[in-house]
Formats: sequence, structure tokens, C-alpha cells
Amino acid sequence: MKIVVLNGSPKGEISVTMQYVGFIQKKFPQHELKIINIAQRAKQIENKEETFQEIIEEIKEADGILWAFPLYVFLVHSQYKRFIELITERSAAAAFKGKPAAILTTSIHFYDHTAHNYMQGICDDLDMKFYASYSAEMRDLFKENERERLLHFFQGYFEAIVRKAPAINVYSPLYLQPSEYTPKTSPNPIDTCGRKIVIITDAEQDHSNLKQMVDRVAEHFTGQAEVINLHDIDIKGGCLGCIRCGYDNTCAYSGKDGFIEFYTNKLKTADILVFAGKIRDRYLSSLWKTFFDRGFFNTHIPSLAGKQVAFLISGPLGQLSSLRQILEAYTEWQQANLVGIVTDEEPDSQKIDNCLRELAIRSVEYANSHYIRPTTFLGVGGRKIFRDEIWGHLRFPFAADHHFYKTKGLYDFPHKDYSTRVLNLILGWLIKIPAVRKKIYGTMMISKMVEPFQKLLSKL
Ligand SMILES: Cc1cc2nc3c(=O)[nH]c(=O)nc-3n(C[C@H](O)[C@H](O)[C@H](O)COP(=O)(O)O)c2cc1C
Repeated sequence: MKIVVLNGSPKGEISVTMQYVGFIQKKFPQHELKIINIAQRAKQIENKEETFQEIIEEIKEADGILWAFPLYVFLVHSQYKRFIELITERSAAAAFKGKPAAILTTSIHFYDHTAHNYMQGICDDLDMKFYASYSAEMRDLFKENERERLLHFFQGYFEAIVRKAPAINVYSPLYLQPSEYTPKTSPNPIDTCGRKIVIITDAEQDHSNLKQMVDRVAEHFTGQAEVINLHDIDIKGGCLGCIRCGYDNTCAYSGKDGFIEFYTNKLKTADILVFAGKIRDRYLSSLWKTFFDRGFFNTHIPSLAGKQVAFLISGPLGQLSSLRQILEAYTEWQQANLVGIVTDEEPDSQKIDNCLRELAIRSVEYANSHYIRPTTFLGVGGRKIFRDEIWGHLRFPFAADHHFYKTKGLYDFPHKDYSTRVLNLILGWLIKIPAVRKKIYGTMMISKMVEPFQKLLSKL
């Protein structure tokens, strides 16, 4: 069988993910795993029509397609995303139709599920026969049991292809309700209290709704907001994945394009950030993805901590819960405050007007009171993954992260909590005594749980 491997690493074949593919190839020599470097050659694929067509021809002839990619900031790399956009832009979806598809990712399991959701959604949109996805932790290949698990997965995938296994789409096609947003009320400016407001958009000429939403929010901010279009920023390319930023947050592109300056001078100095984008397939545009990937020069340091962040989204966000989660999680891990998300799905322009004004009011209110809403599992879970990784395996090469986490007290492992440790030791022994155990788990548990709260309340 011939399996086409669409490689999503910007590092081409010198990539962790491709070592996993190499392992599969070694164990299944009867099948050909043809690797095509997508993310690394994205510009060439886009600019040279023949290169794109050659890939499509390979796909047509393949018995199966493996989407093999590293996790990049909650999703696939921006250049892989661009290739996915080209498939519909160049009407090449038919080549994928009915092909048995599987996903293989390597990552540190930080939002691997949102990347998988996205990619499976794309497979469903392309009408492929989706087998399953496999999320390998980047070091799994060193463990024998993980290697066995991986082989199991691929054995199953190959067998499914042979028996023409059926598949049912998980993600419904997106229903695109064309509703036009035209502001109904005249702008009603609010006092921005001297806050620095930056609106970043990727709006293009024909993105009428998005442009109108951006304009309306800017008007509410009494013209104090600076509107920056990502198309006007000199961005030479996507993140290279080189991790040169690991040492001291110096990007390989430093001095070569305008992104670092833009991020440092515009985003980091703002009090309120409004991100505005139009949905493209099941995410925002690949340009927005480039923005998020290139922001990685800050490595695992929350570079937008304390800021108010709002999103203006044009498109069917209500049908893309995974994308909504990415926007929420991005804000939470940044330790910023998600003021809200306004979309143009609502057919009543008046309601959108009202929501945009409310968004502007709350942004300033929260900025004034420095309000950051508590993090949910999205932020807490993500922070713990980073904390453990930077303390352990990723301390090298992420030296800047280690310094930051250490000085900011982010290594808050429970083993430092000595009073809880002593209490756990004593209670751990006590509950071994049947009579004590009966009492604790019987009558005492519920009342003792609230006792410290009651003491606190009586003091406050
Ligand atoms: C810019 C950048 C962004 C990353 N984003 C994520 C992420 O969101 N989640 C995650 O679990 N790992 C993330 N990683 C880790 C990579 O996914 C992981 O190291 C992967 O194995 C690299 O594979 P490759 O060598 O094939 O490119 C990121 C790495 C880089 C360099």
C-alpha cells in the first residue's frame, strides 16, 4: 500500500514527528510511506502551481493519507494551515474524497485535542474516511510500551484500509448563514480613561462585516484605538521551530522583519487588545495563525498578562466549539482577561451594535479595575503542563522560561506545602484505625470541610 504522509513540521524531515513516521516505515516495510514536506515548503507550494498539482496527484494515487504534524500553538503550523486553505481555494478537494485518513501528532499534550478536533473536522469537510488520531508525547518513542501502542495503531489503520472500513463524519458541515452587519445606531463614544487600546485585524477588502465591526468598536473607543492590519506588518515567514528564542527570547527573525517590533511595541504596551478575524475553514486565517505562532518567541512566558482581550469574529463560531475553546484557552494561559467575543452570526445588526458597545464598556471598566477572571481548567491545566515541562525536560533549551518561572514563583508544586504534607501524614495514619475512619467518613467529613470557611466568614 502507498500512504502519503503530509508532513506538517516546518523543519521538514529533520523533525521529531518524522522520526515516528520513520519508525512505522521500518516496522512495516511492505507499505510505502511517502513523506511530502508541506509546512516547510509552503511558499513554494503556494507560488508554484506545478508543485501543488504534483502533491494533489500523489494524493489521488494514495491508498491512505496520514496527516502527520507537530502541535503548534493549539493547532497545526501556520504554513500547514495555508496548504489546507489552498485545497479549497484551488478546488482540489475531490482528490481527498473517500481516502482513508489518519492523524499522527507529536507534542507535549498542550491542547493537542484542539488540533486533533480541527484536523478531523477538515477530514470530514474533505469527505475523507477518517480512521482515528494518535497523539504521541514527543518522547514516547523512547518507551517500549509506547512503541507497541503506536504499532498497534498503525496495524489497525492499515487493516482498516484493506477491509475498506466505513466511517461516519463527526463534524457537520458548516452552515454559513450570510447575514450582513450594518450598524444601525450612531456611535456613542465612551470615556476610555486614557487606556491604550490596540485593535488587530486581518480584514481584507471584501470582509465587510469584519471591517464594520472593527470600525464600530474603534468609534466607541472615541477614536483612541489604534487599528493595525496584519497585512501591513512586515512578516517574512512563519515560525521556523528552531527554538533560538529558548535562551533569551530572541527570535531568529530579529532584525529581519517587523513582527518582533510590532509585538513588543504595540501588543505588550497595550491595556486593551481587540483581535478581529474572519473564520477560514475551521479556524481563523493562516495569517492569524502566523501571528500566534510567531508570538512564540516569548516561549512559555505569558507575554500579555494583565491585559484585557476581546475578539471580534466574523463567521460561524457558534458551530466551532473547539475554536471558541482555543480563543478562551489562549487568553487564560496568557493570564489575560477575556472580556468577550462578539460575532456577526446574529442577524439583527442592532443587537450586534449593542454587544459591541457593551464589549467596549467592559474592556475599559475591567482595565480600570485590573480585573482578570479566574482561570478554568483551560488555564490551570495548561499552566501545570508548562510548569512541569520547564522544570523538567524543557529546562534546556528554554533557559529564559526557567529563569522566569523560578523568579516568579511559578514552580508551585504541592511538595512545597509543608503543613499539608504533615496533615496528610497524620490523617493518613489515623484513617487506618477503623473506629476513627468510621467517624471521619461518617459524621465529621461534611462539617469539617466547611469549618475553616465558617471561621473565615466570622472574621471578615
Ligand atoms: C513554536 C512552537 C509551538 C508549539 N506549540 C505547541 C503546543 O501548542 N502544544 C504542544 O503540546 N506542543 C507544542 N510545541 C511542541 C512541539 O509540538 C513538539 O516539540 C513537537 O514534537 C515538534 O515536532 P517536530 O520536530 O516534528 O516539528 C510547540 C513547539 C514550537 C516550537
